[in-house]
Amino acid sequence: MVDFSHLTKAYKKKVVVDDFTLSVDVPIFGFLGQNGAGKTTIMKMIVGLLAPTGGTITIDGALSSHPIFKKKLGYMPETPYFYEHMTGMEFLRFSDELFGPTRGRTPHYEGLLKKVGIFDARNAQIRTYSKGMRQRLGFAQALVNDPEYLFLDEPLDGLDPIGRREMKAVMMGLKHEGRKVFLNTHILADVEEICDEVGIIHQGKLLYAGGVKEFCAGMPLEERFTEVVEEHEKQRP
Ligand SMILES: Nc1ncnc2c1ncn2[C@@H]1O[C@H](COP(=O)(O)OP(=O)(O)OP(=O)(O)O)[C@@H](O)[C@H]1O
Ligand SMILES: [Mg+2]
Repeated sequence: MVDFSHLTKAYKKKVVVDDFTLSVDVPIFGFLGQNGAGKTTIMKMIVGLLAPTGGTITIDGALSSHPIFKKKLGYMPETPYFYEHMTGMEFLRFSDELFGPTRGRTPHYEGLLKKVGIFDARNAQIRTYSKGMRQRLGFAQALVNDPEYLFLDEPLDGLDPIGRREMKAVMMGLKHEGRKVFLNTHILADVEEICDEVGIIHQGKLLYAGGVKEFCAGMPLEERFTEVVEEHEKQRP
């Protein structure tokens, strides 16, 4: 469904995504990697915000940067950007209008704000929102166009334990609605809990892709992750 073929991204001579080839075809896929591994770079290339230096990304056989995907994709950036003077409701309407006419969509925005747990703050200016509330609004914004595919860059970052649980439940709900979810994370427990498959990225290279259980082979995920990364480090010239 989403296929990466020899994907490469380099800044001058610095290669940050290195010959990345992978096919993803599960409801919830997790990109797991340390800080600087290349997760955000890959996600930005998927949604067309960054151009690859080499290789391709296709969704259902067409290039992911193709305009036909604009309406089908939802994207939550690592640090969502908002217009501070708008209210949560106004921001969702504004975001939705970028996709086309929006008359009669107020119940949809209300439903989204309820889903992510900030309905009570719907008429407050975003400048008054806490970090976790902003994260939740970023999530709602990614859903505003009813996307088939969701790309979420560390969606659980900055949320309290209850918030994390609620957002994980939202992601499971999206899965059951038949949407595909890709998420970047470095939180191993979240991967174990909700991802059907995981891709382990280290220094721009794919070290593993497949089932979480198969990856762990009976070990705690954290230990196994460290082992795989250290093994890779040893093999480097
Ligand atoms: N504009 C740029 N110029 C040079 N190097 C860059 C640029 N943008 C990103 N990089 C480098 O690309 C690498 C991958 O960064 P990326 O943001 O994709 O990592 P990440 O896996 O998302 O990390 P994190 O978990 O911290 O969000 C890093 O080494 C980073 O320094
Ligand atoms: Mg990142």
